[in-house]
Amino acid sequence: MADSTSDQLANLDISEFDCPNLQRNLNILSPDYVDLAKMLIQNGQSHVFDEWPEPGVDDDEKLAFFDQIARLNSSYPGGLVQYINNAKELLADSKAGKNAFDGFTPSVPTGENLTFADENFIKYEETGVKEAKNAAFVLVAGGLGERLGYNGIKVALPSETSTGTCFLQLYIESILALQEASCRLAEGEPLKEIPLAIMTSDDTHARTLALLESNAYFGMKSTQVSLVKQEKVACLADNDARLAVDPQNKYRIQTKPHGHGDVHSLLYSSGLLNKWHDAGVKWVLFFQDTNGLLFKAIPASLGVSATKQYQVNSLAVPRKAKEAIGGIAKLTHADGRTMVINVEYNQLDPLLRATINSEGDVNCETGFSPFPGNINQLILELESYIEELKKTGGAIKEFVNPKYKDATKTSFKSSTRLECMMQDYPKTLPPTARVGFTVMDIWLAYAPVKNNPEDAAKVPKGNPYHSATSGEMAIYRAHSLILKKAGVQIADPVMHAYNGQEVEVWPRIVWKPKWALTFSDVKRKIGGNCSVSLKSTMVLKGRNIFIEGLSLNGTLIVDAIDDAEVKVEGSVQNVGWTLENVDYKDTRIPEEIRIRGFRISKVDQLEGNFREPGNYCLKP
Ligand code: UTP
Repeated sequence: MADSTSDQLANLDISEFDCPNLQRNLNILSPDYVDLAKMLIQNGQSHVFDEWPEPGVDDDEKLAFFDQIARLNSSYPGGLVQYINNAKELLADSKAGKNAFDGFTPSVPTGENLTFADENFIKYEETGVKEAKNAAFVLVAGGLGERLGYNGIKVALPSETSTGTCFLQLYIESILALQEASCRLAEGEPLKEIPLAIMTSDDTHARTLALLESNAYFGMKSTQVSLVKQEKVACLADNDARLAVDPQNKYRIQTKPHGHGDVHSLLYSSGLLNKWHDAGVKWVLFFQDTNGLLFKAIPASLGVSATKQYQVNSLAVPRKAKEAIGGIAKLTHADGRTMVINVEYNQLDPLLRATINSEGDVNCETGFSPFPGNINQLILELESYIEELKKTGGAIKEFVNPKYKDATKTSFKSSTRLECMMQDYPKTLPPTARVGFTVMDIWLAYAPVKNNPEDAAKVPKGNPYHSATSGEMAIYRAHSLILKKAGVQIADPVMHAYNGQEVEVWPRIVWKPKWALTFSDVKRKIGGNCSVSLKSTMVLKGRNIFIEGLSLNGTLIVDAIDDAEVKVEGSVQNVGWTLENVDYKDTRIPEEIRIRGFRISKVDQLEGNFREPGNYCLKP
């Protein structure tokens, strides 16, 4: 035994170690691990050594156990002791049925309600693009995606299958297009690179990195992208917050994800926030792994943040009463505290009933709930964000959601853990903080892919499927509606069922972010009388493609380098691409296709590829 270990042991009050299995193994532990052992015992965790055999048996595994404890201890703000204490408190509250919102009265906070394509919207989009060069983006992509059940990582899934562009590629190309457009507007100023941080976890890290590396970071400089990995937290076996030993391995504690709220402490502890601040970043935009529409909403929302100087801006959509998304509410406590925060839908109804409205969660005269629906995309003002994190270290208020065996709430069906959510960040802000929201049409802003086909098909009628099918169809619908607003005649959609889900099928229109980021961009690039039939597919992959009096009834693909200016006109008529139903259970078909319930049969198309600089006209 090393001398320092002997000293360490000498300092220990051995009577505290009422744990013979640990005591006889102390000799194999380093001083640091002895300290950890003591910490465990002192915090009611002696059961973790219950099955430990005598020294000489599985010694490597015993050390690996302490390696894990050391990791769990160092990755949680305040260490494992803090985690266990927080857990005891939250488990006691949960057992007592205590409501986190007791004493608070909700009211509707102030925010901006936008109408797509009106003057106000266009003005905000313009401001947002100007401001984008001062932004940094943060993608939270550490989630397991259990509900979707996809074998790969979610960001590798195609956002739509007309081009096969995966979510990560779409996000990166959107950021690069914003960077280019924003820097172009700031003529004379040095070019700025918009940083992207991606939060991964053990479940997603290696595959996210491999996806980036095998695709040359989708055109972004590798130095522009930072990966930060979240650690899991220990599972809890009972109301006394005893750590759950892995049933498969007595030398491991079971762990589970802590939730996307980890992003704040990781950004802080990694030093990224200060680095961005020094580089002149003013805004940090948080977004999630599978929302193919998000970047349609970013320019205007960032414009709102910049104009109103919001320290926190939550992107939101109109919410129908009782809809299963959280509502953004201002909560005022009897003691004077206030906060603007997301209230989960199952908490909103009882809170309203208990306070301002005996009918609970109901629509107002607009036909919607007065509380906007939170879509969990946040824009934070960096300066005040850093100031706040200096105080909190990025720790976010946690919650626990144990599944009890019975009404006595004395034991769990399976182990639980503490969780935290990124949108709970404003909970610790002072009442003077400028916290607002930006509401946008759901068709423009939100279509995540969260549910597997089987569960999506069971979603009650009228509620969103949030499946690969609905996510892809939402992209076509958004592009169709934007073009329609710009004056293009777009055929009406039809309803069709894929994988048991009835969805609106619009013409399959897709453009690269660099073709158009804002409504003004779209309008500049469309002229004359244009029409697109329902069977059509249109893919625009260049910055300088101009559509003039086009009548499209079939498939048109235009791909052009930045220095090629292409005018597309006339009447395009061909058999085009058709959608064929496929069954999600048909394992002969690749998973990323069959989970949509359709595959695209690329029969015929007019295709223009422009690889040399110059002016061109594409006419059938
Ligand atoms: P989701 O609600 O989609 O959860 O997360 P999930 O964990 O990915 O999927 P399920 O619940 O198991 O089906 C919203 C966003 O937060 C990220 C996800 O990657 C997604 O972008 N997330 C979630 C994290 O980054 N870490 C987490 O611990 C949980």
